[in-house]
Amino acid sequence: MKKLLFATNNAHKLAEVGAVLGPAYTLATPRDCGVTEEIPETQPTLEGNARQKARYLYERTGLDCFADDTGLEVAALGGAPGVHSARYATDGHDFAANNRLLLENLRGAADRRARFRTVICLIEGGEERLFEGIVEGRILDREAGCEGFGYDPLFVPDGFDRTFAEMTAEEKNAVSHRGRAVRRLAGYLHGK
Ligand code: IMP
Repeated sequence: MKKLLFATNNAHKLAEVGAVLGPAYTLATPRDCGVTEEIPETQPTLEGNARQKARYLYERTGLDCFADDTGLEVAALGGAPGVHSARYATDGHDFAANNRLLLENLRGAADRRARFRTVICLIEGGEERLFEGIVEGRILDREAGCEGFGYDPLFVPDGFDRTFAEMTAEEKNAVSHRGRAVRRLAGYLHGK
């Protein structure tokens, strides 16, 4: 069994990613490895943040590791909130305020196209590799559903007539940005 350090202390993400990677991999968290401080993510792109977080962990632990970063990119807003998705409306991770601001900024907009994009950076033996997952969809003009988190109640993926917040976790993972990026990572790791 191979140990990989994943740059999250979020139990939900850990379980989700662990399920896709399967039993050949054990995932450790930063806390498991003595990294208790907040890992910096100060770069202007998703790629930059994923690399910064993975590199930070690798430098502190010397372990093979990976980090992810996700953003919602809205066409009519020139790709915003993008890398600022967590802190769109406030300094904290206030999902309700973020959703209100997004609706306000899209009020009356005919073009509702948006996509979620996840970038994963893997560092193995010091070498970096990036994996991307994208799901295209659109933003509703009101919230629907109460599953999931973040912008889920506003986002309807292409080919569906329900938001992510109206889907089960399995349904969402099958098409989601994060699910796709993690399956690419898993495909690479298993194919070696
Ligand atoms: P993170 O990089 O995974 O922490 O994601 C940054 C921000 O993007 C989160 O705080 C959410 O606002 C948003 N986000 C990421 N993934 C999702 C998702 O699957 N559904 C809804 N919002 C998400």
